[in-house]
Amino acid sequence: MWMLLAACLTLPPIDRPPQATACLECHDTVNLEVFRGKTHGGLQCVQCHRSIKALPHEDVVAPVVCARCHHHENESLRQSVHGKAASEGRKDAPTCQSCHGKAHDIVSPKRADSPVSKVNRDATCRKCHEAAFLARLNAALPRRATRMGLEPGQPRK
Ligand code: HEC
Ligand code: HEC
Ligand code: HEC
Ligand code: HEC
Ligand code: HEC
Repeated sequence: MWMLLAACLTLPPIDRPPQATACLECHDTVNLEVFRGKTHGGLQCVQCHRSIKALPHEDVVAPVVCARCHHHENESLRQSVHGKAASEGRKDAPTCQSCHGKAHDIVSPKRADSPVSKVNRDATCRKCHEAAFLARLNAALPRRATRMGLEPGQPRK
């Protein structure tokens, strides 16, 4: 019995993806406790940072692709006024993070502290748009209209 156990202990470890605590040894800018309280806090770091397969990792870390998990939202952005601006090469077209905030800090738009919650939304849009334009837009849109998938044909500036 003990010999069997000893044999097991000397087996090579099962390949487990690198864990958050291992990342933090070098990346002390990431606050794990804060991150766990956010929308993506239940995910493993490497579910997003997919190019990292083992530690130490390669020098170049591939950018995270939100669309991999949010296909529907990505499509709705792509077809929106903003997706159109991006496809026309406008450098000032918003990315997901322009509206939702830094990836590790993202919370549900239903939470008041989201940059796109009802109370904060206009302030976030004002990074790029005039207040008067947003007032006209809000007045023209139906009450429950989406702000993420705004389609072409909305009021102009
Ligand atoms: C042994 C130290 C070490 C460990 C452990 C480590 N990293 Fe890194 N990481 C680095 C260094 C060094 C860089 C390049 C310098 C920098 O940008 O901080 C880097 C860069 C990165 C970047 C790119 C940063 C940027 O600004 O573009 C990401 C993302 C990243 N690491 C994520 C992770 C994740 C996730 C883990 C755990 C699975 C991890 N790292 C574990 C040392 C480490
Ligand atoms: C939802 C996907 C997602 C998860 C989960 C995630 N990250 Fe990130 N991370 C990103 C994105 C996207 C960026 C690029 C900057 C931004 O958009 O805020 C980033 C940036 C980084 C950076 C460079 C900037 C910085 O803050 O130093 C590091 C290091 C990093 N992540 C480590 C981690 C670690 C460690 C974990 C797990 C505790 C983790 N990430 C979990 C998406 C994610
Ligand atoms: C590895 C898969 C994955 C990646 C990559 C990812 N997410 Fe998520 N995201 C999730 C999961 C899982 C949830 C929580 C499930 C839910 O509530 O819909 C979530 C929730 C969200 C929410 C809140 C949704 C709600 O209705 O409460 C937003 C906003 C969001 N993600 C934006 C982003 C953005 C922006 C990026 C890129 C920086 C990103 N996500 C990358 C998996 C991912
Ligand atoms: C112009 C600002 C803006 C951009 C850019 C944006 N979003 Fe949103 N997002 C919002 C707003 C506002 C909501 C709240 C619901 C609404 O009004 O459509 C939202 C809602 C969401 C939700 C919750 C589910 C839903 O549809 O209500 C997810 C998930 C999400 N966004 C992910 C993303 C991802 C991924 C990207 C990039 C591909 C992105 N968003 C780009 C503003 C934006
Ligand atoms: C990072 C910058 C940025 C952010 C943030 C942003 N936008 Fe935009 N928006 C643009 C750009 C660029 C265009 C395309 C060119 C233009 O019309 O100025 C555009 C176009 C539009 C249009 C179409 C205008 C037209 O003339 O057809 C509407 C409507 C709009 N945005 C609403 C919003 C709303 C609502 C928000 C917040 C939820 C928002 N935008 C957030 C950059 C941004």
